[in-house]
Amino acid sequence: MLKVHFSTPFVRRFFKNKKLMSELKPREKLLESKDPKTVPTEDLLAIILGHGTKGKNVFDLTKEVIHFLRENMDKDISVADLVNFEGIGEAKALQIISALEIGKRFYKQKSKMQVRKIGSGRLIVGDCLDVMQTVPDNEIILAFTSPPYHNAINYEDQIKKLDGEIRYWERKEISYEYYKNFLTDRFKELYRIIKPGGHNVVNISPIAWKGKRMALPFHFVSWMESIGWVFKEDIVWEKEIARDRRSGVLMQHPYPGYYYPSLVAEYVFVFQKQGEKENQNNVYYFRSREEKEKNKLDLSDYQGDKSKNIWKIRPVAPQENIHPCPFPLELAKRTIEFYSYKNDTVIDIFAGSGQTNLAAEMLGRKHIGIDTQETYINYAVERIKKWVDHKNNTA
Ligand SMILES: C[S@@+](CC[C@H](N)C(=O)[O-])C[C@H]1O[C@@H](n2cnc3c(N)ncnc32)[C@H](O)[C@@H]1O
Repeated sequence: MLKVHFSTPFVRRFFKNKKLMSELKPREKLLESKDPKTVPTEDLLAIILGHGTKGKNVFDLTKEVIHFLRENMDKDISVADLVNFEGIGEAKALQIISALEIGKRFYKQKSKMQVRKIGSGRLIVGDCLDVMQTVPDNEIILAFTSPPYHNAINYEDQIKKLDGEIRYWERKEISYEYYKNFLTDRFKELYRIIKPGGHNVVNISPIAWKGKRMALPFHFVSWMESIGWVFKEDIVWEKEIARDRRSGVLMQHPYPGYYYPSLVAEYVFVFQKQGEKENQNNVYYFRSREEKEKNKLDLSDYQGDKSKNIWKIRPVAPQENIHPCPFPLELAKRTIEFYSYKNDTVIDIFAGSGQTNLAAEMLGRKHIGIDTQETYINYAVERIKKWVDHKNNTA
C-alpha cells in the first residue's frame, strides 16, 4: 500500500505553489491541514462522495446532505435516508453511516453541543470551532466578539468560584503560539461562514504575560490579515474609569522612567471579508429602498461620540453581570446597528454572558451565540428570555 507522508519531497513539491487553502481540492486540504478539525465539513463529505451526479456537482450534493444532517442532529440517520439523495447509492450511504458511527463511538464524550432557542436566536454550548463547522459557507452578515484573552482568565475555575466550589482561581499555562493557533483556527472558520462583504468586529486589548504587556491586538491584526480578513477600522473603547492603579507608580516616584498610565482603553477592530470587486458591498448597498428605510439610523446624537473612532462607554460593573469580563451592551448595539440590517444574522463565537445576543434580540436581528461554558449560556438565555417576556407583555 502506498503511504503518503506529509514531509516527503513529493508532497512538499506538490503543495509548493499552492497557497490558499480555499483553492485546494478536498483531499488536498485534508492532506495539507495540520489539524483535520480545520477542514470544512463539506470537504470531508466530498472526500467520501468523490463526485456528484449528472447536473449536480459534488459540493451541491454535500450541501444538501449536510443540511439534512444538521436538521436531523437528534435522530439516527439510516442508509435508507441517504439513498433518497440523487447521487448517493447504497455503497456511498454505507460509507457515510460508517464514518458517522465511528465518530459517535469514539467522540461521544466530546460532543457536548447543546442548543437553546430563545427569541430569534440560538445559544449553543460548545467549542465554537465545532459549532461553526455545522454552518454552511457565506451564511452570516456580521460577527461581533471578544475572544478569551490568552490565559488572563480561567473560565472553568471562575465558574467553580461562582458556585462556591473554590475560593481562588489560577491562570492556565498556555503558550502564546498555542493561543495564536487557537484563535486563527477559529477566525479562519468564521471567515468561511461570513458572507463576502460582511464584517467581523473584535474587541481585544493588550494582555499581561509574565510581568510584560503583550501587544496582542497588533499581533492579532496580522494574524487576521493572513487569513484573508481586510482591516477596516480601529475603534478605541474608552472606559472612563480605570480599575488598575498603575498611575500610582509615578505619584510615588515622580521622575522620568516611572510612567505607567492607567489602562482605560480597549480596541474594537473591524475586519471585512473580501468579495468580488464589483459586489464587495452588496450585502449592504443592494437592499431594497423599503428595507433601507426600515433600517434608517437615528443620527440625532451622531455628531458627538459616535462619529469618532473613540467611543466612551461605561464598563459593566461586577455586580451587574456574573461573567468576569462582559463588554457593555452599548458596544454591541452600536456595532450591530452600523453593520447589519434587521433580520440579518449576527454571531458571537465567544458569547460569554450573551451581550451580543441580547443586543441583537433588542434590535430585531437573528443571532447565534456560542460558549464552552454552560453556566454562561444559561445566564445569557435567562437574560434574553426576560427581555422577550417583557417585550411581549408590553406589546
Ligand atoms: C472575553 S469572554 C466574552 C465575554 C462576552 N463578550 C460577554 O460580554 O459576556 C470570552 C468567552 O469565550 C469563551 N470560550 C473560551 N474558549 C471557547 C471556545 N473554544 N469556544 C467558544 N467559547 C469559548 C469563554 O468561556 C468566555 O466566556
